[in-house]
Amino acid sequence: MFDPEDLVANPTVGPSFSDWAGFDPGRRRWLGAALGAGALAFLSPGIQAATPRPRISFDGIPVAVDDAVHVPVGYTAQVMYAWGDPVSDGPAFAPDASQSADDQAQQAGMHHDGMHYFALPPLAGRRNHGLMAINHEYTDDGLLHTDGMRTWTADKVRKSQAAHGVSVIEVVERDDGKWEVVRPSRFARRVTAYTPMRIAGPAAGHPWMRTEADPAGLVALGTLNNCANGHTPWGTYLTCEENLQAYFVHSGTIPTPLRRYGINERGFGYRWHEFDVRFDSQRHPNEANRFGWVVEIDPFDPTATPVKRTALGRFSHEGAAHAIAKDGRLVVYMGDDQRNEYIYKFVSRDAVDPKRRDGNRDLLDHGTLYVAKFGQDGNGEWIALTHGTNGLVAENGFASQAEVLIHTRQAGDRVSATMMDRPEWIAVHPRTGEVYCTLTNNNKRGGTTSNAVDGTTVLASAQPPVDATNPRAANSFGHIVRWREAAGDAASTRFEWDLFVQCGDPALDDPAKRGDIHGDLFGNPDGLAFDAQGRLWIATDISPTALNKGDFAGFGNNALLCADPVSAEVRRFLTGPRGSEITGPCFAPDGRTLFVNIQHPGENPGERNDPEHPKALSAWPDGSSGARPRSATLAIRRIDGGVVGT
Ligand code: FEO
Ligand code: CA
Ligand code: CA
Ligand code: CA
Repeated sequence: MFDPEDLVANPTVGPSFSDWAGFDPGRRRWLGAALGAGALAFLSPGIQAATPRPRISFDGIPVAVDDAVHVPVGYTAQVMYAWGDPVSDGPAFAPDASQSADDQAQQAGMHHDGMHYFALPPLAGRRNHGLMAINHEYTDDGLLHTDGMRTWTADKVRKSQAAHGVSVIEVVERDDGKWEVVRPSRFARRVTAYTPMRIAGPAAGHPWMRTEADPAGLVALGTLNNCANGHTPWGTYLTCEENLQAYFVHSGTIPTPLRRYGINERGFGYRWHEFDVRFDSQRHPNEANRFGWVVEIDPFDPTATPVKRTALGRFSHEGAAHAIAKDGRLVVYMGDDQRNEYIYKFVSRDAVDPKRRDGNRDLLDHGTLYVAKFGQDGNGEWIALTHGTNGLVAENGFASQAEVLIHTRQAGDRVSATMMDRPEWIAVHPRTGEVYCTLTNNNKRGGTTSNAVDGTTVLASAQPPVDATNPRAANSFGHIVRWREAAGDAASTRFEWDLFVQCGDPALDDPAKRGDIHGDLFGNPDGLAFDAQGRLWIATDISPTALNKGDFAGFGNNALLCADPVSAEVRRFLTGPRGSEITGPCFAPDGRTLFVNIQHPGENPGERNDPEHPKALSAWPDGSSGARPRSATLAIRRIDGGVVGT
């Protein structure tokens, strides 16, 4: 196989800048110490003013409610990879969705979400050449099958599972700036909800991980609800399993640990359990324990078995953004996206080996998982979720580190972590090391009983009171929190935090709904990414139930915005088609292409389209020539070839 380790020495063709944030490819050393100066900026407004400010020179665009993608004057957006497009030289998309499950397993899945670009050596006559790993978060089974869910069969379950997971595609940028998927490609791959995965780390083999089909508890079938993502400095992809509960149905009495993860009696309409018995949670209660993990995939080796890294904890993972500690250890920040869940970070035991890729093969299996406790005074603390400490002992239900990890949420409850307003993506500033996290909304806060900090287990249904970090009851618009680790070291157990922005509409009567945005209106921040120069890109996910109605009437369709982290000024860069969510922002290594995913165009509040009227809300991207809307990856460039955002 091609070895991406060869790329490290050359920053122009190596993994993108963010792959190596903190690593100086020229001198082959980590820049940990250099981050220290930036650390002061958070503490002192005087020094903060001296922090280099990224230039944002496009004109923000207005809100839009039409069925189209809009970008600023001087930019162009190209549809590069849509649901059903072949990953390699397999079958083409069938506009009436008549492709088989086997066809779907060789095509782009549905509902593109987080993604990352991995550079390959240049090809003659091509500006950029790389691999993209792209998550397919979930399916709309109304759109996926020609007649939707009117009939239900084992083949439809198989096809739904094949439309989940991850795509790895090979892409090139031609000299005229157009991006193409390389077909055929020796790298191309689909990982689905039935691809075998190795279970690694402390929970591997634990009795709670064992099933009838896998009595050793070491090999799980598939990954699902792959929401946001991360990547490692050694060029692997991290795909994050979010709403595992959606796929299981548990008739009868549901064990408390499964309830804590949202497993219920009805499921969420996937109906997989009717033909794939492992999703019948009553019959196979441990199967749900095998989901909710971060999965590491080597995009450069299509034969490599994906690995579920249990040391990073089990919850509704949103993303996995990394930083490098001063001593070279890897730090991974992760949100648990449900109402009143927690923010975590993993600190590896060993330092990253920047010279030998293989030296990092098991790096994510050893380390400490922490959960965040935000103090009311702007200070915060990372509490270790380590067996034998902080009450994580057998008498409290944690007999080993495996049990702490399989029941990560309960461990967070035990140590009274701070209940957050739905943590979505996390992004680390490439120069200052400041960490930003979107908190998308929360309609389950503002309870008058202060049962959140009583030192014992907190029920998921409890409504915590407002607090300094989550200051609004019924937070319908969301906000962004940021923190800076003590001494500028990502491995610190203490941090300082503040609120970067509270979303809202200044035109609304209720002061609590007006927010404090400087610049263009946005709500329900979700996707989040820094570019190499420190511009913060924010993607929104206003739910189809709220979009362009009521308090959201002024927000338009979902959007991508660009913010200056110093001034907090925000400009709207892109608006999406009707019913879509914007997600996945990431960059080509030269910063001249921004990749964005348009997820679920045309989605209605039920999340299941009517196959009789599939284009009722949106016909994007194919318009009149297509039969149904499709999620797709966009490649966005400046027409003059300049760096995006400048
Ligand atoms: Fe899959 Fe929390 O968004
Ligand atoms: Ca999300
Ligand atoms: Ca969301
Ligand atoms: Ca969403």
